[in-house]
Amino acid sequence: MLIPVILSGGAGTRLWPVSREGRPKPFMKLADGESLLLKTYLRAAHVGYGGELVTVTNRDYFFMSRDELARARLCDGHQGVFLLEPVGRNTAPAVAMAALYVANKHGRDAKLLVLAADHLIKNEQSFDKAVTDAVGLAAQDYLVTFGVVPDSPETGFGYIEAGQAIGGGRAVKGFVEKPSEDKAREYLLDDDFLWNSGMFCFKAGVFLDELSAHAPEVLKACEACWSEMREKSSLTDTMFEMPAETFNAVPDISVDYAVMERSARVAVVPVDIGWSDIGSWSAIRDMAEPDDENNRAIGEVIFVDSINSYVQSEDRLVAAVGIDNLLIIDTSDALLVANADRAQDVKQVVARLKAQN
Ligand code: GDD
Ligand code: MG
Repeated sequence: MLIPVILSGGAGTRLWPVSREGRPKPFMKLADGESLLLKTYLRAAHVGYGGELVTVTNRDYFFMSRDELARARLCDGHQGVFLLEPVGRNTAPAVAMAALYVANKHGRDAKLLVLAADHLIKNEQSFDKAVTDAVGLAAQDYLVTFGVVPDSPETGFGYIEAGQAIGGGRAVKGFVEKPSEDKAREYLLDDDFLWNSGMFCFKAGVFLDELSAHAPEVLKACEACWSEMREKSSLTDTMFEMPAETFNAVPDISVDYAVMERSARVAVVPVDIGWSDIGSWSAIRDMAEPDDENNRAIGEVIFVDSINSYVQSEDRLVAAVGIDNLLIIDTSDALLVANADRAQDVKQVVARLKAQN
């Protein structure tokens, strides 16, 4: 049994003003009108064969998430299950709660396919094939990651150092979460280094054992939440609210730091699936078709004597005259104008706004 588990957390501050606390990145709609979360549900339903889709998210996003699931029209044959957090405690606790749910409901050998709610995958067929390879390795008790061949030195990703071939993938020699720019440049030239896509596949029981070995305090705190939650619910429920006080006490740590970097049971399936984690406006720009002047636009936009720019407008006409290398993102109550080379720094706007409030 393979149960897709969708992690839907962070606000995606580099995509301000479209991604905000009230409407975070997974709910951001792309040019085709589909949100990233909806696309994730469709992808997950396609590969999952447990009939169940588990979403781990903040309780504030429950209704919005359920709407997206309904939009995916998966209701026949796909049961949506929601594990709701009172606060974000990063990905290790989110995955641990999902693993506890799956192990208790479906048994320790049931497998989880952990997917991020805010990724884009262009080549779905290759993705399906990669999942099949990952499931094969997970059956041999590996914690499986999906590794993307890097095409730039990214300091915002984790890197996986791949070793010898095993099954449909490779053993993992090491794991480096968010390296320095110099290291990232070195890795770009080395075929053995892959980006950690942030998607995983493993047996519930194997993950819990590795968590117990490498971050026992996280497992203990999550088990306390689980037993408290179980007292108030039944395993056939489709919505579980984590007890606020107990979950507050869970350590804040990512699954990469808590388990993947420390475990000796990690394997990687190298993938070429047109993956993007849509981390910034330059990633969104790259998805749109350029015109002859290398301008791209979403919405009603007029370019006059302009080059290398991206304009996105929600509901009014935007005209750009004589601009070069700009990102312009217009929404009904906020406008972003940024140098395209500074896309990563948009998060500073959010930091500034938070400091003011
Ligand atoms: N439910 C829940 N709760 N989900 C969360 C939480 C949380 O507290 N925190 C993060 N998430 C979700 C995010 O919404 C996203 O879908 C996924 O988990 C990964 O979290 P990010 O915050 O986006 O992680 P990252 O970008 O810093 O790094 C991870 O992803 C990279 C690839 O995009 C790591 O796995 C890196 O190694 C990897 O390269
Ligand atoms: Mg991310």
